[in-house]
This record gives sequence, C-alpha cells and structure tokens, in this order.
Amino acid sequence: MNHSGSFFGLCLLLLNGVFGAGTEEVKSVSVMEGDSVTLNTDITEVQRDDLILWMFGPEETRIAEIYNQIIKYFNIEIFSERLQMDSKNGSLTIRNIRTEHTGLYKLIISSRGTSYKRFNVTVYARLPFPVITSNSSNCSSSSSRCSLVCSVLNVSDVTLSWYKGISVLSSISVSDLSISLSLPLEIQCLDDSYSCVVSYSFTNRTTHLNSDDLCHTCSAVAQRSSFMMVIAVTLALLAAIALVVGLMCHGRCKHSGEKVKSRDEEVNYAVTTFCALQRTDIISADHTVYSTIVT
Ligand SMILES: *[C@@H]1O[C@H](CO)[C@@H](O)[C@H](O)[C@H]1NC(C)=O
Ligand SMILES: *[C@@H]1O[C@H](CO)[C@@H](O)[C@H](O)[C@H]1NC(C)=O
Ligand SMILES: *[C@@H]1O[C@H](CO)[C@@H](O)[C@H](O)[C@H]1NC(C)=O
Ligand SMILES: *[C@@H]1O[C@H](CO)[C@@H](O)[C@H](O)[C@H]1NC(C)=O
Ligand SMILES: *[C@@H]1O[C@H](CO)[C@@H](O)[C@H](O)[C@H]1NC(C)=O
Ligand SMILES: *[C@@H]1O[C@H](CO)[C@@H](O)[C@H](O)[C@H]1NC(C)=O
Repeated sequence: MNHSGSFFGLCLLLLNGVFGAGTEEVKSVSVMEGDSVTLNTDITEVQRDDLILWMFGPEETRIAEIYNQIIKYFNIEIFSERLQMDSKNGSLTIRNIRTEHTGLYKLIISSRGTSYKRFNVTVYARLPFPVITSNSSNCSSSSSRCSLVCSVLNVSDVTLSWYKGISVLSSISVSDLSISLSLPLEIQCLDDSYSCVVSYSFTNRTTHLNSDDLCHTCSAVAQRSSFMMVIAVTLALLAAIALVVGLMCHGRCKHSGEKVKSRDEEVNYAVTTFCALQRTDIISADHTVYSTIVT
C-alpha cells in the first residue's frame, strides 16, 4: 500500500515537473531556530484514499506522506525525529527547527483532483535576550537621572528598541550581522515600566528593567526623598489636627472657665488642668506616630 502510494506520488511529482512547476503560489514562513512550525494543508479531513505528500529542498526529497490513512516518514537524516504529520488534516509540524531546515517545502494533495502548495521556510538564528546595564558613575546622589545601555550580541535582521509601557522611545535596526548592538537611554529612577526589546519581524525577546537591580543610588535617593515627603505630610497633618483640637479645647475651656469664674476658683483650676492634660495627650500621640515612621 505504502509502496504504491509513494509510486503514485512520484508520478505526480514527475507530471508536476513536466507541466509548469512554479505556477502555484509560495507561502512565506518565518521561524526562529529551536521553535516549532506547522505547515497547514488547509484540509479539514483526510479522506480514505487521499494521498498527501510532503517534499523538501531543490531535489524535492520526499519526507512524509499519508496514503490510505497511514502515515509514513522517509528517513531523511536532517529531519530525524522532528517531523509530525497530523492524521486528521495532513499538516506537517517540524519540531525544534534548525537553520538547515530553511528551504522550499512542497505539498501534493491528491484526492478527487490534484493540488500543490509551496512553503518558503526561513529559519532565523535564535534571538538572545537583550542585556540592560547601567553606567553607575552617573548614578550620583546629586542626579536623579540614570544612564542605561541595552545591548545584544551576534544578531542580524533585528531591531533593538527601548519601550516605556507600549510606546517606543528609541530604536535601531541592522540587517547585516552585528557583533554588538547597543542602544542608550537616560531615565528617571524608580520606574520599572521600561523594557528593551530585540525583535525579528515575526517574534521578539524582551528584558524588563528591574529598578531593584539597577541604579541603586538613584532609587535610594528617590526613595529617601519620597520618605521625607511622607514624614513632612504626616507632620503637617498632625500639626493641623493639634491646632483644630487646640482651638476647640480653647473654646471649651474659655466657656467653662467663664462659668466657673462666677462660682469657685478651685473648680476652674481643675477644668484648666483637664485641658492641659488633653493637650499633652495630643503631643505624645504625635511622638508615637513619628517614631513609628522613623523605625
Ligand atoms: C491541522 O492539524 C494541526 C495539528 O493538529 C493543527 O495545528 C492545524 O490547525 C490543523 N489545520 C487545519 C486547517 O485544521
Ligand atoms: C524564500 O525566501 C527567501 C527569504 O525571504 C528569499 O530570499 C527567497 O527568494 C525565497 N524563495 C522563493 C522560491 O520564494
Ligand atoms: C560610564 O560613563 C563614563 C563617562 O563617560 C565612561 O567613561 C564609562 O566607560 C561608562 N561606563 C560604562 C559601563 O558604560
Ligand atoms: C552621564 O555620564 C556621561 C559620561 O560621563 C555624561 O556625558 C553625561 O552627561 C552623564 N549624564 C548625567 C545625566 O549625568
Ligand atoms: C559571536 O559570533 C562569533 C563568531 O561567529 C563567535 O566567535 C562568538 O562566540 C559569538 N558570541 C556570542 C556571545 O555568541
Ligand atoms: C513581542 O511578541 C509578543 C508575542 O510573541 C507580542 O505579544 C508582543 O506585542 C511583542 N512585543 C513587541 C514590543 O513587539
């Protein structure tokens, strides 16, 4: 069965070679080394007597086929263990793809009629993750800005970009091999919405800026200033509260004081002491809150 299937395929191949190969459209597929790619037949269900044949390269070497619903892989060394054909739809998956798998893949489908498809597969080198470094000499306590450099080694056909959130801040592109590609950035510290992205047209690698790792001095400075601000605000708030309570208390004291004055001086004294105590309470509360922030 397999044998006749292959033979049939070979005949189709020969016919195709004779009658104007190259009239069918070529679908371009880009993939990164180490990834998997699936070449689709666009068939929903393989019928019992359908022949689906996959071929590769300029020699159109047969690599896999389905005939009588039996899948057969031809032992082509560079594809060892990498091919998987879907028994339902005949699609071909190449796992852990390598640069040597770059080339033209040809599909022959023979059911009622015969149709052809071609896939131009290009395998790109694996992208490294970009590396972010800081020029710590710039992270002085007097400066709130920080100099960063994002770089990648040994890349070609890539764009290297700095992003803040989803907006591009700057980018640089190369088509030829670049041993070392780098892009500088000056930023405010204490913000980790920044990322550096190295990308092919179809995929990318992203490194997020981690403000814990970089610009220590700057972030410490920023942290210290925001800490001081919290303390200042707290103190101002406490002062305002003390003032309001003091005024209220003062009003109450005056009121009761007037009342008492007409009666007994001893009672008046007691009331005044009560107000003074209340004030002391507020001051000590102030102290407690302040020391909590400090520790
Ligand atoms: C064919 O099968 C593969 C693998 O199961 C799947 O990824 C693909 O989407 C299918 N294609 C179609 C056209 O149904
Ligand atoms: C396949 O793609 C490569 C890269 O895009 C291109 O240089 C080549 O001409 C294409 N080949 C065919 C047969 O389309
Ligand atoms: C940091 O900046 C100084 C001054 O320009 C420069 O000499 C030094 O090489 C830079 N360091 C790095 C790691 O870029
Ligand atoms: C960072 O360092 C470089 C090199 O010393 C210098 O030219 C640049 O002005 C510095 N930037 C800041 C913000 O200090
Ligand atoms: C970059 O490429 C050169 C030459 O191809 C190689 O010697 C070097 O090890 C590569 N470096 C990295 C980091 O991949
Ligand atoms: C990087 O690729 C992912 C999917 O792989 C995509 O969601 C994301 O938008 C890409 N990022 C950039 C900056 O191109």
